[in-house]
Amino acid sequence: MSWLTALLALVVVTAGLLRWRRPAWYWLTFGVVLATLRVLVRYSSVMDACGLTVPPPRWRLTIARMANRPAPESRPPRILRLRPTRTGLVLRLGLRPGQDAFDVAAACDRLRHSFAMYGVTSRELRSGVVELRMTGYDVLARVQMPAKGDNAPMRVPVALREDGAVHYRDYRSTPHALTLGATKSGKSVYQRNLVAELAAHEVALVGIDCKQGVELFPLARRFSALADNPDTAAELLDALVSHMEGVYHLIRAEQRITADVPDAEVAADIWDLPAHLRPTPIVLLVDEVAELALSPTKADEPRRDRIITALVRLAQLGRAAGIYLEICGQRFGSELGKGITMLRAQLTGRTAHRVNDEPSANMAFGDIAPDAVLAAISIPTETPGLAVTGDSSGGWARIRTPHTSMRQAVNACNRHAHRAPVLPGFAAFRPELPPTVSLVKIPTPTEAPASA
Ligand SMILES: Nc1ncnc2c1ncn2[C@@H]1O[C@H](COP(=O)(O)OP(=O)(O)O)[C@@H](O)[C@H]1O
Ligand SMILES: [Mg+2]
Repeated sequence: MSWLTALLALVVVTAGLLRWRRPAWYWLTFGVVLATLRVLVRYSSVMDACGLTVPPPRWRLTIARMANRPAPESRPPRILRLRPTRTGLVLRLGLRPGQDAFDVAAACDRLRHSFAMYGVTSRELRSGVVELRMTGYDVLARVQMPAKGDNAPMRVPVALREDGAVHYRDYRSTPHALTLGATKSGKSVYQRNLVAELAAHEVALVGIDCKQGVELFPLARRFSALADNPDTAAELLDALVSHMEGVYHLIRAEQRITADVPDAEVAADIWDLPAHLRPTPIVLLVDEVAELALSPTKADEPRRDRIITALVRLAQLGRAAGIYLEICGQRFGSELGKGITMLRAQLTGRTAHRVNDEPSANMAFGDIAPDAVLAAISIPTETPGLAVTGDSSGGWARIRTPHTSMRQAVNACNRHAHRAPVLPGFAAFRPELPPTVSLVKIPTPTEAPASA
């Protein structure tokens, strides 16, 4: 018997240790089983206690009365599906007559405590069906992205959401995006992570990094064009605008709108063009946009206006030509001068890392999701990379990027360097590359130790 006790003690100690040091492993081994049992066993009483039950219908009361049986109990929503995931549980509920998705959303915090889960969020799938996503532990404390994501062209996984789902940056549904955050809040790591993920895609990367190129130049092998000062940036942006006009000519030439061309084949953007004609889509990454939008002296003003005009034109017209903007900055408001709010209005995707004051958060969310503003200013300093992301539909979520080191990003870019397309008209902006540094040193036969 004593060996059984010892085994039990060992299991309990292992579970305790895992839970403390490796919550993700704990979840996959013990947590998921315990949580599933807990949810199934406590379901009815928890729903009752959280006010999510409805009284039985009249016909059942009548039958009970006629049969002289005790009155049936109130009923909780039906469980349509309970699915364990890598980070938690997904519970799909069928609502009873008289319930609405708001009831469930309002009870999320009570459900979280009652089921002893780390987080619970709800969303409506269709009328009458609500999905509860529960996480078993703090998934954002140490971000681990799933090994396999679902891949689509121009759609890359960039972060983990607090409900355990992967957050994608989808250029075709959200062409342009703005990333804000105070200094040291994780903007550059977010952008680096994006570059490392985009590296494997068929896309041309173009970068403007006026912080002397410290963030983007190490990744130069995968970039088709780079600028590290406002003068080069202005020329680069002009080249992009002429590239865009060229693409529009191509689309026009391919449209051939005659009566016998089926509607679905009329090209209105590059994705409608046949694959052999389609120009490579371009992602333009701008780190620290204020360096472009502020003019230190009066003499710099024409250049500044030229840059902002080009950016606004790219944001307004670039999507159909396959040019997507990804802009990072500490603030992005009207104090940066003329044209900035017009540019901001075109940047649909919004992500705010930690910001120091409400006006900065307002620049990201004030015009789309006011309650996300509060969430953005309450991000603590000790969790860089944590951000609030929203979209124009008014929804928002907390996300965190995995910590991609510069070395990992450089390796990813070097591995995919052959994918960097040579864009006509951009030869002047190709960075000068240092000779390839072999990342893994392979001993040459002369260096190999002679076997004794
Ligand atoms: N997702 C993350 N996870 C962990 N640490 C991070 C994360 N993002 C950023 N950091 C840390 O924060 C520091 C500052 O990030 P950085 O992206 O350079 O900030 P910013 O560009 O906003 O000034 C980085 O050196 C890194 O150590
Ligand atoms: Mg930075």
